[in-house]
This record gives sequence, C-alpha cells and structure tokens, in this order.
Amino acid sequence: MKRKPPLRIGILTAGGDSPGLNAAIRAVGKAAIGEHDWEVVGFRDGFLGLAQNRSIQLTKAALAGILTTGGTILGTSRDKPHRMEIDGRIRDMTHVIAANYRRHRLAALVCIGGGGTHKNALRLVKEGLNIITLPKTIDNDVALTDATIGFDTALGIAAEALDRLHSTAHSHHRIIVAEIMGHRAGWLTLGAGIGGGADVVLIPEIPYDSQIVAAAIRRRSKGSANFSIVAVAEGALSKSYAAAFAEATARKRLARTDEDRMRIKAELHDLDSKHAGNTWRLAKELEGLTGLEARVTILGYVQRGGTPSVTDRLLATRLGTACVGFIRDGVFGVMVAARGDGIRAVPIEKVAGNMKTVPLDHHWIETARRVGTCLGD
Ligand code: F6P
Repeated sequence: MKRKPPLRIGILTAGGDSPGLNAAIRAVGKAAIGEHDWEVVGFRDGFLGLAQNRSIQLTKAALAGILTTGGTILGTSRDKPHRMEIDGRIRDMTHVIAANYRRHRLAALVCIGGGGTHKNALRLVKEGLNIITLPKTIDNDVALTDATIGFDTALGIAAEALDRLHSTAHSHHRIIVAEIMGHRAGWLTLGAGIGGGADVVLIPEIPYDSQIVAAAIRRRSKGSANFSIVAVAEGALSKSYAAAFAEATARKRLARTDEDRMRIKAELHDLDSKHAGNTWRLAKELEGLTGLEARVTILGYVQRGGTPSVTDRLLATRLGTACVGFIRDGVFGVMVAARGDGIRAVPIEKVAGNMKTVPLDHHWIETARRVGTCLGD
C-alpha cells in the first residue's frame, strides 16, 4: 500500500527579534514531529525568505538545544510581502509567496511576530493561505493577548538596569534619564519603572510636562534623596509634542485630496524625526530646571538580546504546542493568544492594525501613583 506523504508545515519569524523565539520554534517543531510525524520547514529572514524560497528542514536535531538561546535560528526581517526590495526594486511579492507556499505543499504556515507581522499575515490569509500566528514582541503591544513572547525577558533586563543606575545616580547626586524601548506603548517602561523603583516614569500614553517632572525631582532633593531615576519610554511625548502630533493626525484623517494627505504625512514624518532626540532634550531641560547634573542611558538592543526568561520559555512553549493543536483541528486565520490561564484562537483580522497600549485606568498606572512615582502629568 502506498504511504500517505506526511503533512508539511512552514514556520517563519518576522519583525524585530525577541528572546523566546527559538523556544517557540522548538515547541511548534517538537509537537509537530513528536506527536504527528509532520515535516517542518523553516523559512529564513521572515517573509523575505519565503519570497526568495530560502528554507531549511527543521529536524529533531535542528531543534535540539535552542530552548535557552536568544535571537532566532531562522533569522528575521521587517520585509512586507506587498512591498519588498528585490534586486534594488520595490515589488509586490504576495503572489510569489503564495506560489512558494504551494510549491512546498504546506498545510499551514506559522508566522511568529508582532504588530507588523499580523498585518502581513492577514494579507496572506486573504490570499487563501492557511496562516496561524504566535504573538512576540518585547513591546507587549499586540492586541487580544495578555502577553507576548519576549516581553518578560526585556522587562527583567530593563528593571535590572534601573536597579543598577540607582547606586551611581545616588553617589553622584545626579538625575539619570534611562530610555527604554517599547515603540509607541508604555508597557515596558511602566513595568520596569515600577519593578526597578524609578522616581519618574514617562510613557507615550500620558503626555508629560517637564516642569512637573522637574518639580517632583526638586521635591526629592529637598528631602533626603538628592538624585533621581527617570525611566522614559522611547515613544514618550511632551504635552506640546503630543498636541502637535494629534493635530496633524486629525488633519490627515480629514484630508480630502491625496496631495493634502501626502503633505501631512511628510509633516508627521518631520515631527517623528524631531522626536528622535527627545531623551537627550529632556535631560538637558531637567538639568536647567533643577540645577542637578543629568546623564542619559539608552538601554537599546540589550533589551532584546540573550537568554529568554523562564516565563518567556514557558509562554513560548504553551503557545507553540497549542498552535500545533489548532493546525491539527484545521483552525486557521487565527493568532494563538494567551488569555488568563488559558489559550484562545483569535481571528488575525481582529489583531492586525490594533495596537494594545496601556489603558489609562490600568492598575499598573494606579500602582505607580500610589508609591509616589511621578508620571509627568
Ligand atoms: O518592536 C520591538 C522594538 O525593539 C521596539 O521596541 C523598537 O522601537 C523597535 O523594535 C526597533 O526596531 P529596529 O530593530 O528595526 O531598530
């Protein structure tokens, strides 16, 4: 009797890397091979590798020993299927990706990524591919999941950095302004700020007034603590910048012509570039307003590197193995989300384009205020 060919599934990691990606790849692969004897194909560098048909067979041996390693064994990129640079030209590669998916006879493609990946995954769902996603990003800003793979590790790294900054800020009687990642969401800065005992926490969701921040620092120096730790999210906005940004965004929404839209888009881009030096500007301002010396520490990519925390390994393994269960049951077009103690499949179309920022009534915000943390408002 002729043997049925094994089911084949594909897997790729896209967007910025985050600790725990390898744990997720391993979980999907081990459950697919161990429980079902499926074949698992990994595509290199996100959607780009799928478009260029660059793949590797993920055998049991290839999956061994990667639970604790940082980064992604598959590589990643921010390339979008519909706007990909190929041989120096921007091309729509969606159809090529669909053709490669079929050439590999894939029963499903697992895409592990954050906000951008979900928008791209939705395009492939609409192309008729069996797509299933896992949420990962250190920013924790993916909608409809309680947690994303990588957030816990980055939170630990950022909080430890704030811990360490205390002793040097204290010794020199300085303000240390520590910039923390998170894109346009404040989860990482708020969580690390609370856990690392920052005196001031500035997040994108709460536009800040530097006079108020300076007053909080001055109050501290009049007491026994002549130093302060300011945790500022890379996306934090001063009140005036937030107002300018909101005004331009509203105008863009109401723009009648493409020409108007393009002009306002350029304005927004300009505002974004000006915002790039925000942390440095804030430190200078605080120096002037308080008379204390200020120093800047930009934590940067350290937050994305190295060994994933046990919590991230556990999350990645739960989501990855559940993902194989959904594929077995023919559930596609969904993200495997962590909800409470359980796991849910939520439609990708509800996730794509929906960023999860910190709600203003979130208990972390109340918690920070109750221990006297200044949130700049
Ligand atoms: O989304 C994760 C993240 O690290 C953000 O916190 C940060 O804004 C961004 O990626 C940096 O992106 P890139 O790796 O493209 O520089």
